[in-house]
Amino acid sequence: MSKQIQIAIDGPAGAGKSTIAKIVAEELGFTYIDTGAMYRAVTYKAMKENINLNDAIALEKMLLLTSIDLKPSENGQLVYLDGVDVSQLIRSNEVTANVSEVSAHANIREILVKKQQELAASGGIVMDGRDIATHVLKDAELKIFMSATAEERAKRRFIDNEKRGIPSSIETLKQEIIQRDKFDSEREASPLVQAEDAIYLDTTELSIEEAAKSILRLAKEKME
Ligand code: C5P
Repeated sequence: MSKQIQIAIDGPAGAGKSTIAKIVAEELGFTYIDTGAMYRAVTYKAMKENINLNDAIALEKMLLLTSIDLKPSENGQLVYLDGVDVSQLIRSNEVTANVSEVSAHANIREILVKKQQELAASGGIVMDGRDIATHVLKDAELKIFMSATAEERAKRRFIDNEKRGIPSSIETLKQEIIQRDKFDSEREASPLVQAEDAIYLDTTELSIEEAAKSILRLAKEKME
């Protein structure tokens, strides 16, 4: 059996992390964990319960009484919040617009990071997010920082939204992406930043398959 390694994939919004990470995990028979989905699930519940997203204590109280489960399925990873499938609901424009505010709270990150580390404790893992290489899986054998131009990322989100039946415009998405990246990069708690030992992968000109192939090539070198 080949070596079970940890692969950390970080980068800004819409760089293709989830799509590519999922393919890499499938090819290697590894578990895929989308950490952004966890922050989205917390945001969704807080909004539904009318909790002030600025109130870190109230959010923490809520989170301690919340269960978030990620389950693989034929249609990708499903996200269960307190036993209910919220996979589609957490992708709404409202959740997207508010998730950075929630994820900036250090106490919320601490709880979710612990859960992410527990999920990654056994077997081969591909995890994507913003702070995976720098905080969650510091010892990951392979670290990738994936990006693409804001224009290209907005286009991809637009196509993705169309498929999900969510109305949007490319220009609005581009502004939203730039705003969210700025917020995620400038926050104090584990900001979005490329780890020193991460490999930079620009996916602007790459197809999904090409990007997945280049990560698989690097992964196989580490697994030898
Ligand atoms: O990856 P996705 O776009 O779904 O992430 C949603 C948001 O969750 C990000 O904009 C960021 O604020 C937060 N996030 C984070 N740390 C992670 C993953 C996501 O702060 N590891």
